[in-house]
Amino acid sequence: MADTIKIGRVSIKKTAAVAPMAGVADRAYRLMCKKYGAAYVVSEMVSAKGICYSDRKTASLCTVTAEERPMAVQLFGSEPEFMAEAVKIVLEYEPDIIDINMGCPVPKVVNTGTGSALMKDVPLAAKITEAAVKAAGDVPVTVKHRAGWHYGEPNAVEMAKALEASGAAAVAVHGRSRDQYYSGQSHNDIIRDVKQAVSIPVIGNGDITDADSCMRMYEETGCDLVMIGRGSYGNPFIFREIEARLGGEDYTPPSLEEKMRVMLEHIRLILQLSEKNEELAMHEARKHAAWYMNGYYGSAKFRGRCYMLSSYAEAEALAEEFIQLQKSRE
Ligand SMILES: Cc1cc2nc3c(=O)[nH]c(=O)nc-3n(C[C@H](O)[C@H](O)[C@H](O)COP(=O)(O)O)c2cc1C
Repeated sequence: MADTIKIGRVSIKKTAAVAPMAGVADRAYRLMCKKYGAAYVVSEMVSAKGICYSDRKTASLCTVTAEERPMAVQLFGSEPEFMAEAVKIVLEYEPDIIDINMGCPVPKVVNTGTGSALMKDVPLAAKITEAAVKAAGDVPVTVKHRAGWHYGEPNAVEMAKALEASGAAAVAVHGRSRDQYYSGQSHNDIIRDVKQAVSIPVIGNGDITDADSCMRMYEETGCDLVMIGRGSYGNPFIFREIEARLGGEDYTPPSLEEKMRVMLEHIRLILQLSEKNEELAMHEARKHAAWYMNGYYGSAKFRGRCYMLSSYAEAEALAEEFIQLQKSRE
């Protein structure tokens, strides 16, 4: 049995969580990861201002289904008043946790003073958190942030301490600075420093690609939970692998046949949950299909073909052709 951690009143299995990823970790993705053992999931980021102006798309992003729990809805915003109002609206969707994004590096977000721009204004970050905590009542509020703004000048410890003082129930720390975006190395030592500085749970994030890197994150940082983003692309199995390692059990990686079966299951789920017709929904499925085919002979060519898929039948045929290609090389 895996240990559990507590974020506020919410119990979470101490294995690994799915990181919020706009445009990737949608409901279908989260459900696939849950099926393979993810302990906790977070919605794609939702604009606090957008939801206050009741944008229909943002409302669908906030929906929490029973199978996804425990789940956080993630908000981003730079004004405490809008954040408080947005939290009240989000509470209607009954999330287990409300998370605030203070880590997004994208210029479109940062230029409005939200996302990782808040790492440059810790007092404002604290005020936003305080407003959210007050509005959320007994629903825990967490914050996801980075190592800092500039590489080599981390302020994650200062940030986490201020957020803790503002009532945050946990922080998730991605060990990169804003100016690293998603390249270079994520720094576990910064996550360790945060863990040593605060009493609330710390979630470690950055560059987890397998059970080994997950164990390193736990051991080097002492973090309470590990969160995985890109390492779960086409690889929901990573959660099963980590659960097995933590439980001291043997782990058998999936065969290619199993991977293709799961890829098709993922595509069916995308089609089922999408409001679009099959052809348009397949556009959303293409990148996922390509990720499941990573790392084999001829992958590059097949990934290219994934980006031309326009029906489920084509995906099925491509998966079969891919399996036959690998078999022909045995
Ligand atoms: C495509 C993509 C979308 C992302 N969207 C979000 C988001 O909506 N909210 C957020 O807090 N972080 C977002 N992130 C950052 C991830 O949650 C995570 O912090 C980052 O990818 C580092 O973890 P990894 O090395 O395991 O991928 C996104 C990352 C990627 C690659």
